[in-house]
Amino acid sequence: MKSSRIFEDMDLRNKPSIDAGRLWERHRDLARIGATAGGGVNRQALSPEDGAARNLVLRWSAERGYEAQLDPIGNLFVRRRGIREELSAVMTGSHLDTQPTGGNYDGVYGVLCGLEAMEALDDAGVSTERSIELVVWMNEEGSRFRPTTMGSAVSAGQLQLAEMLRVRDRAGVTVEKALAEHLALLPRLEHRALGTRGYAYVEAHIEQGPVLENAGMRIGIVEAIQGLYAYEVEVTGFEAHAGTTPNRGRRDALIAAMSLIENLRQLLVDEEDQVRFTVGRLEVLPGSPNTVPGKVLFSIDLRHPDEKRLKRMDERILAACEGTVEGCVIRCRQVLASGPVHFDQGVLKILQHATRSRGEHFLRMVSGATHDAKYVAANTPSAMLFIPCAGGISHNEQESITQADAGIGAQILCDVLLDLAIQAEAGQSNSPRSRVPAD
Ligand code: GLV
Ligand code: MN
Ligand code: MN
Repeated sequence: MKSSRIFEDMDLRNKPSIDAGRLWERHRDLARIGATAGGGVNRQALSPEDGAARNLVLRWSAERGYEAQLDPIGNLFVRRRGIREELSAVMTGSHLDTQPTGGNYDGVYGVLCGLEAMEALDDAGVSTERSIELVVWMNEEGSRFRPTTMGSAVSAGQLQLAEMLRVRDRAGVTVEKALAEHLALLPRLEHRALGTRGYAYVEAHIEQGPVLENAGMRIGIVEAIQGLYAYEVEVTGFEAHAGTTPNRGRRDALIAAMSLIENLRQLLVDEEDQVRFTVGRLEVLPGSPNTVPGKVLFSIDLRHPDEKRLKRMDERILAACEGTVEGCVIRCRQVLASGPVHFDQGVLKILQHATRSRGEHFLRMVSGATHDAKYVAANTPSAMLFIPCAGGISHNEQESITQADAGIGAQILCDVLLDLAIQAEAGQSNSPRSRVPAD
């Protein structure tokens, strides 16, 4: 790496440029790993496909001489060294795991933007005071192992490692076992302790909703993430013969679950249409066409930007899930209570300035989806950058973005990481500052 330049005096023409073609090609390369017939990917956390995707990112990183580390919950850290290693690093990142019928950009975009930004600095011969670290968080999606954002939450101390290692997927495989298998697929990596803190964290992501597209905007600056409460509900009835058991005597767990879900849906309806109530998983046991279901398990995903509202809805859910419904016993367990998070004003200002400097307008937004940045923000000044996705469609194989939007988002991320990584004066405890005057 060549010696440092004076960035304060740098005008746009001299700033490192990302390579939008390379960024796009890398999306295509990753889309092949776990590709589905429907044009999406199935690369669930700690699966062989997840391992292969991480290996590819590690290969690209090794070609640049970046160092990699893994923490005990499987978060992967790729470091582009700064001049002053004693300073806390500027962090970026996202995830490579996907939904079972996931798209090609959710998570992947943020990881590849981070890598692209680091490579753009290399290509421009730029060295920075602070190291820049790309983090690939483990199990952001929470589809194989619940809850979502597991890796970042454990790293931040908001979920307990030992408890999360015991979580099982539907085949009964624990996170601990899946992690051991995952490790065997990766090259030998240096160990990293939990509890990572950085100077700042900026995550790029596709919006996953229609707001930017409807507003005709290319950049969203995310000021907050709404709250997310998650539950697992168990409905226990009695297995019986489908042909011989009269309706009156049945304790059908599916009938009870249907009635309970509809009751909850009605209870949580709001006029503003801000409550997000989803039952995304329903398991009917024993799952035989001619046996009255004896047990049903279902998930609840509840979101709202206002914590007080979430708490009130939590009380309603727990009350509705008490006792019996249709003769079946209901048990409800909360698996996540993550309130809304507001991002750091200093980092937000730097993002705004970088966006304007590239001649872009931006929309200030609250994220409807959850992200690892939510947990990173507990210990590190953080913020996020969104680009639009077609029709706001996400968690769907049809997820789609344009190369031009991908490029401008990556360029702004690169500018922001550079701005932060040359801030050598402030120590870890000081908030990143914007060198631009307040608006
Ligand atoms: C993340 O994928 C979420 O559930 O919002
Ligand atoms: Mn995501
Ligand atoms: Mn997702």
